[in-house]
Amino acid sequence: MSPDDFHNKPFDEGTLTKLHIFELYAREWFPVFLAPERPLRNAIHVFDFFAGPGTDTQNTPGSPLRLLRQLQEFRSAQGWGKVRIHVHFYDEDSDKVARLKINIASHGFQLPNVSFDIQALRFDDAFRASELVLGNSQAAKLVFIDQTGVAHVTPDVFRKLVNSPTCDFLFFLSSSTLHRFRDHPAIWQKIDRPEDYFHVHRAALEYYRALLPPGQEYYLAPFSIKKGANIYGLIFGSAHPLGIDKFLEVAWRKDEFSGEADFPIDRENIRPEQLLLPMTEVQASKITAFESELENLLRSRRLSSEVDVMKVCFEHGVKRQHARAVLAKLKKEGVIDIDFYVPDVKRFREPRPIRMRK
Ligand SMILES: C[S@@+](CC[C@H](N)C(=O)[O-])C[C@H]1O[C@@H](n2cnc3c(N)ncnc32)[C@H](O)[C@@H]1O
Repeated sequence: MSPDDFHNKPFDEGTLTKLHIFELYAREWFPVFLAPERPLRNAIHVFDFFAGPGTDTQNTPGSPLRLLRQLQEFRSAQGWGKVRIHVHFYDEDSDKVARLKINIASHGFQLPNVSFDIQALRFDDAFRASELVLGNSQAAKLVFIDQTGVAHVTPDVFRKLVNSPTCDFLFFLSSSTLHRFRDHPAIWQKIDRPEDYFHVHRAALEYYRALLPPGQEYYLAPFSIKKGANIYGLIFGSAHPLGIDKFLEVAWRKDEFSGEADFPIDRENIRPEQLLLPMTEVQASKITAFESELENLLRSRRLSSEVDVMKVCFEHGVKRQHARAVLAKLKKEGVIDIDFYVPDVKRFREPRPIRMRK
């Protein structure tokens, strides 16, 4: 693909890939900090710790070029020039770093007012060198770790990420990593249906959730993406409900997903030797599990406001809108009385109550 093809390619073309979802999220993330006339933070830092050379063997753009493609769209935003913009691309392989620099130049992505920090660094060294920036409360951070790097997301790294102020992160678990999770004794015992990909992914999420410091308000969401024969389990983290809400909005965008969430469940087709479900099953299984848990929690009076409902949505990696059916059903049955069917993320601080009827 030539640089011109890359720039001209309609953004929504093609199937959703893990990089596509990352790019879509970056497109939502940049304007939060670059669009306001009075910026929320004086600096933004974007980290890609396993950046690669910028394109794959088919010349398809990789994560760093996609990030820059989105960033350049905001060159005339009000905050551009007021917010310091830092892009950190690291890879242990110096040849790949050299190719990445050439690729950035040949695509015309050497953007003005952007500080580029592109270095051949192993993750451990790069992460250590980034700790001050990650801990800076005046700077917003977006961190991307692709599936090559997930083994490096140790409990210590994970805790540092979740403790970083204004830091959203995305990382991917490949199918093989999910298999390892499934076979891990501590996790294996908790999975009701080891043949069900969705259960494995939830268990993986629970593993990370258990690493959160007690009482820490933090949002983690799982999401599944299929590419060819591979399924990637994506884990997104944000300290802010608006961050996770935006991420789920992106991930579920109708035109990207062709309504997979609406597919019927047909469990008859699952053979015991089948390790991972097809995507349609993953999505349907996800909605069913969410609805059943939401209904149980409401009937057992454990949710008292729209924020509680929203948190259940986030934990299951579904949109707030997915709560509508259960809320409407329980209202109709006279179990609850509510003034909303879809929780509103903007009412996060002053949520509407759920009144119990029965
Ligand atoms: C799959 S490629 C990255 C692709 C890139 N994220 C993209 O989407 O275009 C994985 C990269 O991780 C790098 N890598 C592997 N182990 C690493 C480590 N411990 N620290 C830094 N980079 C590493 C490899 O050199 C390789 O370029």
